[in-house]
Amino acid sequence: ARSYKITLLPGDGIGPEIMKVAKEVLKMVGQQEGMELAFEEALVGGAAIDEYGNPLPDSSLALCRNSDAVLLAAIGGYKWDNNTAHLRPERGLLGLRAGLGAFANLRPATVLPQLVDASTLKREVVEGVDIMVVRELTGGIYFGQPKGFGVNEAGERTGFNTMIYSVQEIDRIARVAFEMARKRRGRLCSVDKSNVLETSQLWRERVTEIGKEYPDVELSHMYVDNAAMQLIRAPKQFDTIVTGNIFGDILSDEASMLTGSIGMLPSASVGESGPGLFEPVHGSAPDIAGQDKANPLAQVLSAAMMLRYGLNEPAAAQRIEATVFNVLDKGYRTGDIMSAGKTLVGCAQMGDILLHSLSQSTESH
Ligand code: NAD
Ligand code: IPM
Ligand code: MN
Repeated sequence: ARSYKITLLPGDGIGPEIMKVAKEVLKMVGQQEGMELAFEEALVGGAAIDEYGNPLPDSSLALCRNSDAVLLAAIGGYKWDNNTAHLRPERGLLGLRAGLGAFANLRPATVLPQLVDASTLKREVVEGVDIMVVRELTGGIYFGQPKGFGVNEAGERTGFNTMIYSVQEIDRIARVAFEMARKRRGRLCSVDKSNVLETSQLWRERVTEIGKEYPDVELSHMYVDNAAMQLIRAPKQFDTIVTGNIFGDILSDEASMLTGSIGMLPSASVGESGPGLFEPVHGSAPDIAGQDKANPLAQVLSAAMMLRYGLNEPAAAQRIEATVFNVLDKGYRTGDIMSAGKTLVGCAQMGDILLHSLSQSTESH
């Protein structure tokens, strides 16, 4: 049998609740598709700070590096919000992405027909939306040096960060995005702020240059402020979007609301080699943690992305996705995607329903 080592990082807040569901789903689909899945767990984020005084212990990163794929839930929470930078859960996540070389973050925002009414936008605006945001993940203002706190001429305290992109960083993410657009509907929109930022001027120049290698892909450029507006005004104009780290962070949360809830959005973070990191777009949702209210579907769909993009097991991925559609077809909803006439369920119950439905799925395509 094909066998894989998978590192699970449940993290903080709702992380352990949604990871439990994803793990059970993976176990079952593994049996159905004849895969041997070996799971190992490690601590990252706040949980690792509490246990080891480090949001990304060397042992956790080493375990991830030695696995075939990494499935992360979410990190962060109120408890650690006032910690200094190196003792923040978020630092662990950034270190993990950098440590795995996962520079390309694929964030699909697909409006499922079952959830059109869960969106806060009108049916005719969101129906049929299918966007792929390709976010640069290990550069830009998140990682640029210098950064820190200082004092200005007037003696006031300051905080500063550096937004920086190199040609190599832009070229490689552009290639990922063009390849993605080519497999989709052949249109790529590069989002930047080149009317103001030098990093964006270089970004636009390089994306245009790389575009010459992809004459079959129709390339356009848009300023990020306009893109934020266009995503709400007419989201169907977008196919694939490529953008830098911070713009991609913001635009992907925005795009999530087209689909009904951020609780539905999975992502894949991949590099040139080594295991990929698969993670929901949402965070640790501390406001609902421990209440069995979390939507586990973004996590479960991230596990499907792991099978498809990380382990090259498309049949297993498709089986999970079909199960999610099936459960939504039957009307089961967590609170975040609830609408009139549907059946409200908690996180664990959604897990049981998924397993039941998966156990009845027979063929794979
Ligand atoms: P968040 O995504 O955690 O939550 C935003 C809102 O969406 C909350 O009201 C939350 O209840 C809701 N929500 C999110 N996921 C949900 C789900 N699966 N089901 C139902 N509702 C869901 O963002 P935030 O509140 O800005 O951040 C909380 C913490 O998470 C912070 O510490 C932040 O740094 C961290 N964070 C981590 C990641 C990650 O680990 N990848 C991503 C984003 C934020
Ligand atoms: C995300 C999160 C992270 C990011 C934080 C928690 C570091 O918001 O995965 O979208 O900004 O990348
Ligand atoms: Mn984010």
